Amino acid sequence: MINRDTIETILTTARIEEVVGDFVSLRRRGVNLLGLCPFHNEKTPSFTVSPAKGIYKCFGCGKAGNAVNFIMEHEHFSYPEALKYLAKKYNIDLEEEEQTPEQIQELNEKESLFNVNLFARQYFSANLLETDEGKSIGLSYFKERGIREDLIRKFQLGYNPKKRDAFSDHAIKNGYKKEYLLKTGLSVESDNRLFDRFHERVIFPIHSASGRILGFGGRILTGEKNRPKYVNSPESEIYTKSKTLYGIFFAKNPIISKDNCFLVEGYTDVIALHQAGIENVVASSGTSLTYDQIRMIQRFTSNITILYDGDPAGIKASFRGIDMIVEQGMNVKIVLFPENEDPDSFARKHHPAEVEIFISKNAINFILFKTKLLLDETRNDPIKKAALIKEIVVTISLIPDGITRSIYIKECSSLMSISEQVLMNELNKKLRSRFQKDNSTPEQNNQPPEIIPTPADPQSPFETDSAEYQEKEIIRILLLYGQQTFHIKKSPDDTEEITVMIADFVIHEILSDELGFENNLYRRIFQDYITGSDNDAIPDRTWFLAHPDAELSQAVVNLIISPYELSQNWLKNNIQVETEESRLKMHIEHTILAFKSKKIDKMITEIQLKLSQSSSPEEQNALMASLRELKKQSIRINNLGLGRIVTR
Ligand code: UTP
Ligand code: MN
Repeated sequence: MINRDTIETILTTARIEEVVGDFVSLRRRGVNLLGLCPFHNEKTPSFTVSPAKGIYKCFGCGKAGNAVNFIMEHEHFSYPEALKYLAKKYNIDLEEEEQTPEQIQELNEKESLFNVNLFARQYFSANLLETDEGKSIGLSYFKERGIREDLIRKFQLGYNPKKRDAFSDHAIKNGYKKEYLLKTGLSVESDNRLFDRFHERVIFPIHSASGRILGFGGRILTGEKNRPKYVNSPESEIYTKSKTLYGIFFAKNPIISKDNCFLVEGYTDVIALHQAGIENVVASSGTSLTYDQIRMIQRFTSNITILYDGDPAGIKASFRGIDMIVEQGMNVKIVLFPENEDPDSFARKHHPAEVEIFISKNAINFILFKTKLLLDETRNDPIKKAALIKEIVVTISLIPDGITRSIYIKECSSLMSISEQVLMNELNKKLRSRFQKDNSTPEQNNQPPEIIPTPADPQSPFETDSAEYQEKEIIRILLLYGQQTFHIKKSPDDTEEITVMIADFVIHEILSDELGFENNLYRRIFQDYITGSDNDAIPDRTWFLAHPDAELSQAVVNLIISPYELSQNWLKNNIQVETEESRLKMHIEHTILAFKSKKIDKMITEIQLKLSQSSSPEEQNALMASLRELKKQSIRINNLGLGRIVTR
């Protein structure tokens, strides 16, 4: 663990223009620097670096962040890896937090498990390629399946002999501990003796993204039905099936350069496609796809193409996968292979060039895929067609980005000849019910989804109820101007002026009416400001940009880069407000007022609702009293304003 102080030192030392400048050639443009975006293809530069704010933003593809984000994105590093990179660049000593004895023990244990797996991998390879049994049984099996020797070596395929304890015995003789042989699952114990889990099987080692051996899959050599076709390593401290993708180590760079990842079902599909020259491919290994696996792919690309068998099971699996991928904000296409063919068998029957052509000709987006498949089933049946439309709209509703959603609605509308308006209504219904469901469980992200306004339904509850927009503005003011000072009067009719920090003023204003934030992220940021204000140390932007919670720091980046325009038309007591500083003051005053009045309106609505449901006279009286109090406050806020900020 790198401690918080060190992270801050790194962030304050690293100059964004230097960090980016190592990879992108930048030219000065006003206060900013401009270059060609390294994250998407472009001919005219739209990649902007702001040395003053310490951030970059591409106006072409939308990627944005600070120095750490840049290194993570560009070098595909994890957060700690990126920090280490920057620490090295700027000669900063990395003060890692001390590890507990338990942590050290755990680390040692993991290393031991990796060591045993490496030893096993070498043993299985040597057996396949150098022993008589391995050559005549294992190697001839691979050859029969048409797997070339260069692929056998690349994927480090192996063979575990027939003798029931061949490997276990060899490992113990070489000093490997029984404990680790059992924990990796390479050996199983019975009657106090060790036996090989994979005996008489060909071996597919499973690599991590960085190439270490996490576990193995072992395939039976015969067609016999009473033993399972594949046996896999059990879950261990180093192997979690749901977080692993077979082939990711070999596919990583090809995925980045093709900006697309093919997803198949089996070990042999991955190898067969590599052999046909298609290397950006990974397998979910027979289990249904998980979010962890999708996020792993997302580190390298936002495009996934599912290559599944065209049988009903394959189609069903692809349906589930589509929704999960779409939900992660990624693009998904589907290629169905002819029934009873998987990518492996197809690749064996066709020339590599044909495989490539087949895939590119048959890759269709998920809307087309679902529509085509389901339309066949629902032909001429209006009730089934309605169900199909709902089904497709559910998938579209999972897309996090509003613009992408509306593009798909258009496409769906023309494919199924249904008006966009009808689809949009259905979509908004879905979004709204999901938002309500999310909000009924605590600890959820409280961001309402972006609803596309539909003319037929102007009363979206979020437009009237939520103070989200005002909360966001308050946080932006704090982030952008919190550390600046301005002059205020102690009370509206006072003549004496005092100088205060903008953050202190805003915090005081909000706390004095005991109002809080609904949005989780904004509440956390505001809380940090309160703590800072209490300790006379208002946090600056770097504090948040260096926040260990990537979601929070990303949100802060987005808040401070979106264009900020102070209205040119402020009037105070009918006098045009002229200077930038006065406009800022007016803006702050207005935002706080809007925030307060939103909150109070909301409380009033809530109490009115309670009142309408209450049957106890005492409760009704109490509610009436609070209502009166709130209405008074509302009037005060709306009529008087704050009236204390000095504008000249
Ligand atoms: P398949 O049955 O499609 O196997 O299962 P395959 O990869 O095409 O293998 P061949 O071509 O018959 O040799 C797909 C994946 O499901 C997992 C494996 O990861 C396999 O690659 N699987 C399958 C198991 O884990 N256990 C099994 O018994 C079967
Ligand atoms: Mn197969």
